[in-house]
Amino acid sequence: MNFQWYPGHMTKAKRQMQEDIKLIDLVVEIVDARIPLSSRNPDIDELGKNKYRLIFMNKADLADRKITDKWSAYFKEKGYFVVSLDARSKNGMKSITDIIMEACKEKIERDLKRGIKNRPVRAMVVGIPNVGKSTFINSYAGRACAKTGNKPGVTKGKQWIRLSKNVELLDTPGILWPKFEDQMVGLRLALIGSIKDEILNIDELAIELIKYLKQAYPGVLAERYAIEEAEDNIELLCAIAKSRNCVSKGNELDYSKAAVLLLDDFRTGKLGKLSLEQPPEA
Ligand code: G4P
Repeated sequence: MNFQWYPGHMTKAKRQMQEDIKLIDLVVEIVDARIPLSSRNPDIDELGKNKYRLIFMNKADLADRKITDKWSAYFKEKGYFVVSLDARSKNGMKSITDIIMEACKEKIERDLKRGIKNRPVRAMVVGIPNVGKSTFINSYAGRACAKTGNKPGVTKGKQWIRLSKNVELLDTPGILWPKFEDQMVGLRLALIGSIKDEILNIDELAIELIKYLKQAYPGVLAERYAIEEAEDNIELLCAIAKSRNCVSKGNELDYSKAAVLLLDDFRTGKLGKLSLEQPPEA
């Protein structure tokens, strides 16, 4: 399978990001907890150098908790502040402000020394499409937020959401582009549904998922579909089709229907909390 991304989008997105990043103190980078590395674009390290950095592993409700913990340790070791969360749930949003303040402690202390009190920390949310940037901004900013509008010295048209006296958030997230250097990255992004299914071969994608699950989470498919985990992956997809009565008109087994069902079950967490990627060994 071949995954592509168009350079035209990339250039425009990058230029926008370079502009926006000048305005902020803190980059809040959102990644998908099921594939924390494949869902991030490492160029953000260059773009966001000299800024405070916070990584949110979002959709943690769908990821394998033990592996998410390993990822937390991995990113912390690299010097990032890290939080895992479910951006749809508004619980825990209060503590996000505390983490932002913690991440920017140095700046706040420096301001205080200079006699500057209550100058809010300015943050921007960034991430590749579909990781939950808008969801997070909505949950975090809630209803009570006030848009602060244009300010002198700030690029015209930029809207800031004042979250408390301490934090202001740029209301439009920065869109990073996925990095497809490695085909496995493309595959993982496709599996979580971050690449339009229409341009993918769904049957092949389902077979790749079966292959991975059999090795990383043996027994999960057997339990969910009440089937034997056959050695042959096509046979296994066939067993899922039988078990779920995926048939086409002539009463023939419809593998594609089973493939869609399997992918959907995975993406919505019906197969359980599963991660597709482990941190690299140190
Ligand atoms: P983006 O701005 O980064 O592109 O992502 P967006 O917020 O639009 O979220 C993409 C999808 O991910 C949405 O689902 C959203 O509800 C879902 N989502 C966001 N955060 C979480 C999370 O922490 N856990 C889970 N399980 N899902 C999350 P959608 O199906 O595209 O839209 P909708 O059906 O929710 O409206």
